[in-house]
Amino acid sequence: MPSHVAIIMDGNGRWAERHGLPRLSGHEKGVESVRTVLEHACRLSIRYVTVYAFSSENWERPEDEVQGLMQLFGEYLRKEKETFLREGIRLRAIGDRSRLPVSVRELLGQIEEETAGGENLDFILAVSYGGRDEIVRAARRLGMAIQAGEVAPDAIRPEEFSRYLDTDGIPDPDLLIRTSGEFRISNFLLWQLAYTEIVVTDVLWPDFSGEEFDRCLCEFSRRERRFGRRSVQESFDDSRIA
Ligand code: FPP
Repeated sequence: MPSHVAIIMDGNGRWAERHGLPRLSGHEKGVESVRTVLEHACRLSIRYVTVYAFSSENWERPEDEVQGLMQLFGEYLRKEKETFLREGIRLRAIGDRSRLPVSVRELLGQIEEETAGGENLDFILAVSYGGRDEIVRAARRLGMAIQAGEVAPDAIRPEEFSRYLDTDGIPDPDLLIRTSGEFRISNFLLWQLAYTEIVVTDVLWPDFSGEEFDRCLCEFSRRERRFGRRSVQESFDDSRIA
């Protein structure tokens, strides 16, 4: 079982189009899939779930869709707060919050604080998030620490650098699921996905069910993770020859 599952929730627009509905209805239906995934993850004791809810590039979408999505995030957070507290879910947001409407920003901060004691599952919401933007913001912060004499440039290792990322303290994802059949990372967790297993499903996000989640987990369980090393089987064969 993966400890950390990250998800690119794609296909809301296509789902709406196929049902002859406005795009926002696809996003609304997508919220139900988020609920399903969190329920399922809690049952399976998956410790971290990260979802890509709004990318730094999504700001370029038409004004009404952006506004609709921001409103949806606000409603979702207000509605789910009690569930998070009851189920021991800790909310954490990653991304550039400075671009978010004040109401959403405040709500995120408030719920992060209130759920900080949640010990069952960390729910990481990537909003106004871009992987390159996150790395640049981290480099900026690190640069300031160097300038202040707090960090020596030649002491910087990957572990040191990762402490400046939004995901500080969160282990890298074991599994990335992308819905709607596209084979792209789309600027999501560029640093953190270095050795993550990727599973792409054709199912559109609003149709993503517990059964589909199980199928993705099953595919993950069949993968052999080598992290750049040789396979366990090969090393075993070598040692027998030696
Ligand atoms: C991509 O589908 C999805 C988004 C840009 C928004 C994701 C938002 C949600 C699932 C709803 C709310 C989430 C939370 C956590 C409350 P798309 O619009 O690009 O679909 P398309 O590629 O078919 O057009």
